[in-house]
Amino acid sequence: MTRTPVIAGNWKMHLTRRKASALARAVAAHHAGAVHRRCILFPAFVHLDHVRRNIRGSGVVLGAQNCWGKKEGAFTGEISPYMLRDMGVEVVLLGHSERRHILGETDALLTDKLKVALRAKLEVLLCVGETRSEREEGRTLDVVKRQLRILRFVKDHQIPRVGVAYEPVWAIGTGLTATPAQAQEAHAAIRETVARILGDEAAENLPVLYGGSVKPGNAAELLSQPDVDGALVGGASLSIDQFGPILDAAPIA
Ligand code: PGA
Repeated sequence: MTRTPVIAGNWKMHLTRRKASALARAVAAHHAGAVHRRCILFPAFVHLDHVRRNIRGSGVVLGAQNCWGKKEGAFTGEISPYMLRDMGVEVVLLGHSERRHILGETDALLTDKLKVALRAKLEVLLCVGETRSEREEGRTLDVVKRQLRILRFVKDHQIPRVGVAYEPVWAIGTGLTATPAQAQEAHAAIRETVARILGDEAAENLPVLYGGSVKPGNAAELLSQPDVDGALVGGASLSIDQFGPILDAAPIA
């Protein structure tokens, strides 16, 4: 990935096929022609193909919210990154806090997912972030650094396909947002950690997105921080009235 500002919509387990298609069309129309930003949509698996058809030619990138950590096999109910790639998906989110905390995903499982997704030629957006109690105990940076350790399995030629999303768990879906200063501090620490794991050049080019209650009213200020390269938007990505202004908040370099 590059540090062109990224505005990504994580639709989570929302929308019907009809609503997903309509929203994809609206996002495509809003984004079309913009070259100073990337726009990625992460619909539910069952809506991927509908969204794909509705964003065709607009430059909007198709993403998936998760994948399994094996190429193929007896894994009932799971989806291979190779299947996603075959479907036209370019980016996969891994380690979203809802998957770590509700589904119990561990760093060991995420290591398998990361390796196979990169082998399948997908881009990976790895989500990291601390819980409220971890922040209150002053452990934010330790937690984030530990979650980033799986990046040591990224091979040199795969580095351009990796990005990170910093999403403090206490800010997701709560209406609480990290202040621009809190986001900047965490993002700078993420870049420093990635420099130690993958080298200075990798860290310099790494897109680090902020996520957690990003709205039209706070997007521009968050995106103006030097180490904030984009936004991963949940709730506000479900309507073009909110997502459109967030797309427009992407700074022009
Ligand atoms: P939110 O979700 O914008 O609704 O807080 C962000 C996310 O979980 O990616």
